[in-house]
Amino acid sequence: MDRNLALEVVRVTEMAAIASARSMGRGNKDESDQAAVDAMRKAFDSLQIDGTVVIGEGERDEAPMLYIGERVGKMGPGTPPVDIALDPLEGTNLCAFGRPGAISVIAIGARGMLLNAPDTYMQKIAVGPSAKGAIDLSKSATENLQNIARAKNREVRDLTAMILDRDRHLELIREVREAGARVRLIEDGDVAGAVATCFEETGVDVLIGIGGAPEGVIAAAAVRCVGGEMQGRLKPRNDQEIARAAKMGIADIHKIYTAEELAKGEVMFAATGVTSGDFLKGVRFFGGGCETQSVVMRSKTGTVRYISSTHRFDKKPGYVL
Ligand code: FBP
Repeated sequence: MDRNLALEVVRVTEMAAIASARSMGRGNKDESDQAAVDAMRKAFDSLQIDGTVVIGEGERDEAPMLYIGERVGKMGPGTPPVDIALDPLEGTNLCAFGRPGAISVIAIGARGMLLNAPDTYMQKIAVGPSAKGAIDLSKSATENLQNIARAKNREVRDLTAMILDRDRHLELIREVREAGARVRLIEDGDVAGAVATCFEETGVDVLIGIGGAPEGVIAAAAVRCVGGEMQGRLKPRNDQEIARAAKMGIADIHKIYTAEELAKGEVMFAATGVTSGDFLKGVRFFGGGCETQSVVMRSKTGTVRYISSTHRFDKKPGYVL
């Protein structure tokens, strides 16, 4: 994959972030999501790729844009064939209610390299490079915390575990507290949570718990780019979801996937902050324009680039806004 593509891709998340940020705090998650989807879809038209959405807004019959299987990009001779996992607005409620941590994200891999994850749940554990090799989803949360602490040369009580605040996690939260670790409960956004473990300054040592499976693939691409580690196991809620997974080529529903199996080969990841969070600032509007902050990473080189952009609406007629 062309290295310049990473810098081009960020325009797509920037557009989605700006459009959805306009609706921040209006209390309407559908409006926020739709704004992000429309803007991202439009931005793809100027990106020189032959892209296929493998993780997107849903099946073709339920999502008119950015649906699974949709071809996107400005195709022409020599444009690279790529698969795309995207979430125009990860944390729709966070944006709709003006809470921290909403981002717009995209992961790109060569064709066939991103797991076509069904829209079900996934049990996940993710850590940054300093705890690589210390996690095992088949072990208890307590054992994982002890191993992470050992790898980081710390005590368990000095670790912070990030967990989605859901009733299904009551037992997990109880166990993590009992093991002695600090807990940070988040309302939404476990892609950003997984990525946060890879940046020491966030103070997040591990993301653990059950979230969306599509989000798991996107997070795996990001974690791979920064040299962290992640594991995931599908957690279907019913027989239909198991059948759907089988149809998408997943034979063993109990398989524990590594990040390398969720997002294989060379991958790239881009995210733009919508509302300010642990590692990205949100969109800031000023008269006639706005500022965005994004991060772009590639697994091949491990380079992490932060991109701060100033956008002038008067210079871009027909802009997303
Ligand atoms: P949306 O952006 O689609 O609202 O997803 C937010 C999110 O919190 C994800 O980060 C997470 O993986 C998933 O929802 C958890 O699902 P649920 O809200 O059903 O527990």
